[in-house]
Amino acid sequence: MRTTTTSDVIVVGAGVIGAAVAWRCAQRGLSVTVVDPVPERGAWHTAAGMLAPITELHYAETPLLRLNLHALAGYPAFCAELTELTGLPTGFRECGTVSVAWDGADLAALRDLHAFGNTLGIDATLLTGRELREVEPALAAGLPGGLLACGDHQVDPRLLRAAVVAAATQRGVHTRAAQARLDTDGDRTVGVRLSDGTALSAGTVVLAAGAWSGQIDGVAAAFAPPVRPVKGQTLRLRLPGEPRLSHVVRGTVKGTPVYLVPRADGQLIAGASSEETGFDMSARAGAVYELLRDAQSLLPELAEAVLEEVCTGLRPGSPDNAPIIGSSGLTGLVHATGHFRNGILLTAVTADGVAELITTGELPEALRPFAPARFAQAVPA
Ligand code: GLY
Repeated sequence: MRTTTTSDVIVVGAGVIGAAVAWRCAQRGLSVTVVDPVPERGAWHTAAGMLAPITELHYAETPLLRLNLHALAGYPAFCAELTELTGLPTGFRECGTVSVAWDGADLAALRDLHAFGNTLGIDATLLTGRELREVEPALAAGLPGGLLACGDHQVDPRLLRAAVVAAATQRGVHTRAAQARLDTDGDRTVGVRLSDGTALSAGTVVLAAGAWSGQIDGVAAAFAPPVRPVKGQTLRLRLPGEPRLSHVVRGTVKGTPVYLVPRADGQLIAGASSEETGFDMSARAGAVYELLRDAQSLLPELAEAVLEEVCTGLRPGSPDNAPIIGSSGLTGLVHATGHFRNGILLTAVTADGVAELITTGELPEALRPFAPARFAQAVPA
């Protein structure tokens, strides 16, 4: 049977970004429905939750760095608001991050990063090998030094999403577990059609389906966001006794990046592989081996840890590694995707920006460099 339900906004994707967009829109008085066939396959379920604009800095990405720093500045208030409204924790920890050098070449790279960060007013401190061991005594002996970024923190993405979903539900957001196909009428979006034939109509549809955002049926190629899946594997580990690390630890071991994120309850998240293998979400034994090998090189005691979970997720990669947020070019279709390595960090700024766009017609200035139009094909003269 076909029924038609009308909302102001339909969000395709019930991951942390989709749920946050729905919540922020509902807070502005809009009626919102979220549609997702399998929310748990979202990247949030695998993500370690590093809020790390400084230690994930890449030289060619200064506009993204500015957005990331802006997002980080708003994170404490975002988490406090969620906890106040729902009574739920988010796992936000102002723990800082230590980037560890494995050898002299890494140390030189960290010095360059430090100098570059200084030009942008970023607060970070270079550490000698001895200082590194004072800051994190459980790290392997003989590491030549590191960089302490006191401003790079963490949140627990699973707790965060649960809190965002609860806040959205409190505001009357409905979620449907179904596949959605975009419905259009000429040159405008009119809603979505679910796999059971139900039609949901809305003035605006937001595509927030992570790595699947470019795969939604009914979206013409010219308006589909250019995202691709980049598989990441993380491991959930636990060492007996007291937590061994007090900061997030990142390093590059013989050319391969690895990170360790210590949760307050003693769990350690080790990540992450980076694999371009399409939509395959199977756990690859070699990736687990490499992660354990490299993480254990930094934290030798890890050999004694219990391996609690192997997780696989698909990052939504974009052609320039930056998010795709704003009007798709098709009336009524808005993108909130392509966050690649920064989805958790950019959750609140994305949700606020999309809610602003839908209610005022204007994207906030900080998000304008990330609008979909930057990928529009040049029209031949
Ligand atoms: N932001 C961490 C990762 O993408 O692995």
